[in-house]
Amino acid sequence: MSKAPRPPRTRRPQRAPQARRAGGARLPGIRPAALPARGQSEWYRRAVFYEVLTRGFFDANDDGIGDLTGLRMKLDYLQWLGVDCLWLLPYYPSPMRDGGYDISDFFTVHPDVGTLDDLVAFLDDAHRRDIRVIADLVMNHTSDQHPWFVESSSSRVNPKADFYVWNDDDQRWPEARVVFVDVETSNWTFAPDRQQYYWHRFYSHQPDLNYDNPEVVDAMLRVMRFWLDLGLDGFRLDAVPYLYQRDGTTGENLAETHQLVKQLRKEIDADYPNRVLLAEANQWPADLVDYFGDGDECHMCFHFPLMPRLFMAVRREQRFPVTEILAQTPEIPQGCQWAIFLRNHDELTLEKVTEEERDYMVAEYVKDPRMRRHMGIGRRLAPLLDGDRRLAELLHALLFSLPGSPVIYYGDELLMGDNVYLGDRDSVRTPMQWSPDRNAGFSRADFARLYLPPLMDPVYGFGAVNVEAQQRNPSSFLHWTRSMIQTRKQFPVLGTGDFTVVPCANPSVLAYVRSPAAHVENEHRLGRIRHRRAAADADDEGNPVLCVHNLSRFAQPAELQLGRWAGCTPVEVLGRVPFPNVGNESYTVTLGPYGYLWFDLHEAQAPTPAFHHQGSP
Ligand code: GLC
Ligand code: CA
Repeated sequence: MSKAPRPPRTRRPQRAPQARRAGGARLPGIRPAALPARGQSEWYRRAVFYEVLTRGFFDANDDGIGDLTGLRMKLDYLQWLGVDCLWLLPYYPSPMRDGGYDISDFFTVHPDVGTLDDLVAFLDDAHRRDIRVIADLVMNHTSDQHPWFVESSSSRVNPKADFYVWNDDDQRWPEARVVFVDVETSNWTFAPDRQQYYWHRFYSHQPDLNYDNPEVVDAMLRVMRFWLDLGLDGFRLDAVPYLYQRDGTTGENLAETHQLVKQLRKEIDADYPNRVLLAEANQWPADLVDYFGDGDECHMCFHFPLMPRLFMAVRREQRFPVTEILAQTPEIPQGCQWAIFLRNHDELTLEKVTEEERDYMVAEYVKDPRMRRHMGIGRRLAPLLDGDRRLAELLHALLFSLPGSPVIYYGDELLMGDNVYLGDRDSVRTPMQWSPDRNAGFSRADFARLYLPPLMDPVYGFGAVNVEAQQRNPSSFLHWTRSMIQTRKQFPVLGTGDFTVVPCANPSVLAYVRSPAAHVENEHRLGRIRHRRAAADADDEGNPVLCVHNLSRFAQPAELQLGRWAGCTPVEVLGRVPFPNVGNESYTVTLGPYGYLWFDLHEAQAPTPAFHHQGSP
């Protein structure tokens, strides 16, 4: 078994792993400010996440590749934007045949992006600003260049022989689907030295690890502890449904897999308070919720089926796809949270839609066959929406108010474009556009040396779309996004509250109320809340918030059945303008094309303000 190398010495001895161990207790010398003070437990339920590609963000040493020091230099920007937690895409050594998800060493960083010291310096700076950082933990597979696999595939008898999943033929587990259907034909590939086939759920250069081997489990637990000891605030568990395979099954979501996730969670709960596990499981809602366990598996799960339905709903101009999938989504255990997103570093996946829905999405959003990637669409948000700013705002209004914590993909706050002529998912991984200067202000290297070319087209290119220009323009999409992030923070109920769909006859209108969680409300009423934190949560959850969205490109009336909120004064959250009180009849608002209105539902303190009754003089 390979030993986890010790993390490098840093300028702060208190960050050494031993200091953080000891059953999670803070040893003397641990600088409490090393971890963000705000929000403490369940911070992820109120956080806004930001997904970032280190190699694509900022190049500090002019070699054409973004790096950890560059990312550190841009923390001012991220803090200004207001995000609470960064999710770093894999930064580990890798032959880079799958964007770094093909890892060849779990215990250090890729020399392209810097050193472990750079990572620690970055984490320290982020934490000092109250920004947390999670990263991908890729447990399912390694690169075929990983020394474990090099050894395992060299013969049938070697110390790593059982680290991967081997078979004499390629016929076992025919029920397991091939994920990358457009490039792989089988989940088995032949290894000539060993004269056997190895199992892989993704690319054939990514052999799956064998979790039936306790040594592999141990090795992965060491990987996890190594990064938590360095100060990471948690992980996105990449491709987590596929960790085990069993005869006669699809090899997804098996009981053994859940057992292993529970084991990871136990370690975290014992030694690493306030860290988070976020599952990447592209599954139907009923299977997805299993990754929360009974509150003893992941703290968060991406809501994969919701995402394509947001795009479907706005094209169909009907709420049905969204309300239907949310109705099929079971309640989740207390303390858990969905992660919701519009786009990410992968293709817009169409795995969890029906065939008919997939055809519809392709017909609506794929203008050129080059835009297809695997089971989805390899485009960024803005071009998917034909650059329609109103539609982008509407989708973000949904992202910031539907149940879950929003995850923004870097560049989408600028409405950056894509390059469908680049291979695989590189179409959506081009450099962050900082300014109209050379190489988008991303790097001072020669253009030819850049890891990917920045966008230069007249619509989405860096001349037109960049941080500098948008920071100067108060009505830019960047400023708008920033103000929505602030608004979300003013109304924590948008993160933690219950969700109730408001009946409305107009199918183009999606309205719901986010209200203080029932258990908190009840306990309050019964005087049961003694625990300080629970009381604080209940207090600052505030009033219910009514969110009304028009999914149509035309103006629409909305007659809302507000039932139990009769008597409230809706105060529009952005302008603080009081609207007429809610009566016992249906409540009517009018929305412009793709319009949205969010209301803080105050207890009525006065009759409807006079200007609503009087005509102008
Ligand atoms: C996850 C990643 C994706 C990668 C795959 C295989 O789905 O998001 O980018 O290709 O895992 O590692
Ligand atoms: Ca660099």
